[in-house]
Amino acid sequence: MNTRLSSFYILIFTLLFSANAAYSQKSNSFNIKKQFDYCAVQASKTLAVIPDNQTFPRSIPTGSSEWKFVDYKDWTSGFWPGQLWYLYEATGEKKWEKEADKFSRFLTPLSVNKASDHDLGFQILNSFGNGYRLTKNKAYKEIILKTADTLATLFNPKVGTIQSWPHNKYGGHNTIIDNMMNLELLFWASKNGGNKKLYDIAVKHAETTMNNHFRPDFTSYHVLIYDYETGKKIKGITAQGFSDDSMWARGQAWAIYGFTMVYRETKDPKFLAFANQLARVYLDKLTTEDLIPYWDFNAPDIPNAPRDASAAAIVSSALIELSSFTKDKKLKSEYVSKAEKMLISLSENYQSHDINPAFLLHSTGHKPAGSEIDCSINYADYYYLEGLLRLQKLK
Ligand code: GLY
Repeated sequence: MNTRLSSFYILIFTLLFSANAAYSQKSNSFNIKKQFDYCAVQASKTLAVIPDNQTFPRSIPTGSSEWKFVDYKDWTSGFWPGQLWYLYEATGEKKWEKEADKFSRFLTPLSVNKASDHDLGFQILNSFGNGYRLTKNKAYKEIILKTADTLATLFNPKVGTIQSWPHNKYGGHNTIIDNMMNLELLFWASKNGGNKKLYDIAVKHAETTMNNHFRPDFTSYHVLIYDYETGKKIKGITAQGFSDDSMWARGQAWAIYGFTMVYRETKDPKFLAFANQLARVYLDKLTTEDLIPYWDFNAPDIPNAPRDASAAAIVSSALIELSSFTKDKKLKSEYVSKAEKMLISLSENYQSHDINPAFLLHSTGHKPAGSEIDCSINYADYYYLEGLLRLQKLK
């Protein structure tokens, strides 16, 4: 080897070694408890400004420091009580349990109303589901079981999936990738005294989605339209992504999280293999150095496109769970180190502090509609806290 060539190799080795050493050092010094303390401070600020009218903080527009509040019908209504339950879990402080119970109970009407869309899992499992897991309160269990039956009324056996948005027919039966998340409510009910058919519905939905909702490279469509009567796939389109054929970051995040959860509940290896493929394409296409994705991986204005911290939070939490099912040592360690790096990145560069009372900045809700762009959103905060809790348990 000539001298110039060997100096080149030495330089590359040194750069790689120092980058790795810097990351390991960061990882070792990442103080999860400090992040919980930060979240508790922010949540206390939010509690101080919530009006006394049974509403929930949803998002804070860029440039504002004030929450926009929504009622129990909003799809995000379960995330605030969910955060309060996670704070109770993280700190053991009774005050969080009291607040979590109060805000969860505001969602009770969802267990007796007719289903208006698929979001019941987000709403009821994040609130009462976490509450039941931590307290075993029987009243919560009844509410969850009733709501699972309500969600199942949206199942169309001719298609094999739940209709996500009954109010928005697109000329057929629609199912959105986000709907994978709400299957957890059906699994939960089937093993906690509910109807066993709920399990079959959840599995059928997951199988139908696995077969139809993805392009050959394992990137997800946002919305799939099926023929209501024959059940045949008509087309894949987008509602919240850049285009019908783009990879909307949060859609892929829901898919990774959703199929990982379906594997946890079924132990069917085809779902694990699929979750691994979904995670692979996400990680391979992730080009940002800080691992926080652009809101859509095909956004035309990258690198100036807004980020979506919520997608990073969802994926970090999902990867930690996926790593626990992964036997391949190299892959397992990749999942854990990338999930941890995402959480460190969110903690170091995306926290709100004095800007507003949310935990995180820079999420994007619905870019094509011009709503909630580059702002704070409650589901980013929820999955951030969940990811931190999962990381803490792993360590
Ligand atoms: N489930 C709606 C969203 O992810 O924006």
